[in-house]
Amino acid sequence: MQISLTINGTEYCEEVEPRTLLVHFIRDQLGLTGTNIGCDTSSCGACTILVDGQSAKSCNLLAVQAEGSEITTIEGLAGEDGLHPMQQAFHECHALQCGYCTPGMVLASVSLVEEYPDLDGQGVREGLEGNLCRCTGYQNIVKAVLSVGK
Ligand code: FES
Ligand code: FES
Repeated sequence: MQISLTINGTEYCEEVEPRTLLVHFIRDQLGLTGTNIGCDTSSCGACTILVDGQSAKSCNLLAVQAEGSEITTIEGLAGEDGLHPMQQAFHECHALQCGYCTPGMVLASVSLVEEYPDLDGQGVREGLEGNLCRCTGYQNIVKAVLSVGK
């Protein structure tokens, strides 16, 4: 099947098998390997991207379901002026160690703060419960997200 979609501002028209997961399309077919795969159960959130501005687990969607969508992966988040404020906050608050969960965590956080700008720490924890980090213990992630939300 052929699908057309926009990823990080670039339009793609690509041939995909109907069974291809969106995360495999993004990583293997387009070579955008910033989107990670951390589980096979839709539970870790490492594969989180923005689909039409809302966070979504790209291992939980078929590529064909993204037909016509505007997608942002971690490669497309920084602007001409440098890092996105959420990327900068993660950097400044030391909200990462190995960084494996970070692309998904950052994109989920961007969507969360846009939807709920007044979140407190508990709200951030609940909003990010679908994203797992094996390294940091979450405290600095929460701090980073709160610093952008203010
Ligand atoms: S790889 Fe998608 S949720 Fe884990
Ligand atoms: S920084 Fe290592 S898994 Fe989150």
